[in-house]
Amino acid sequence: MRCAIYPGSFDPITNGHLDVIERARKLFDEVVVAVAHNDEKQPLFSLKDRLDLLRQTAGKIDNVRIAEFEGLLVEFARKEEAGAVIRGLRAVSDFEFEFQMALMNRKLDTSVETIFLMPKEEYTYLSSRIVKEIARLGGDVSGFVPACVAKALSTKFG
Ligand code: PNS
Repeated sequence: MRCAIYPGSFDPITNGHLDVIERARKLFDEVVVAVAHNDEKQPLFSLKDRLDLLRQTAGKIDNVRIAEFEGLLVEFARKEEAGAVIRGLRAVSDFEFEFQMALMNRKLDTSVETIFLMPKEEYTYLSSRIVKEIARLGGDVSGFVPACVAKALSTKFG
């Protein structure tokens, strides 16, 4: 069985993430959407809330599983027997960090291959960070995130 990990902070999940998940699940038997604990990033949503929102959205898609991980991504990939890590690449500005991370992960474990997938063009400007900022300033985020996420954001900032 071909399994891939799609890791991230998912603080919160956006339509761009869902687009990448849809693309990845066509290439693999199973896609594990893995939320990093990432406490050092001081996420807006708790780990539990991020997992809940993922379960209500990506968790409903066939051959997609939601998980969490702490520590090194390559170790989690090994534990899941996944041969690939999926990352979304929106613009050239993403590339430097993504390239560094992919090569470092390959150094740490040569069996883990990183695969970059490009979301639909209309999502190139979309990020969790920008969605949170718009929501915090009272803007409408309903076109950028699933309804349950829009609701969770308005509860946070309402
Ligand atoms: O959604 P993000 O915040 O861009 O995701 C970053 C993430 C979670 C994929 C990255 O921080 C990560 O892999 N963290 C786990 C720790 C790790 O393995 N670090 C070494 C990577 S080179």
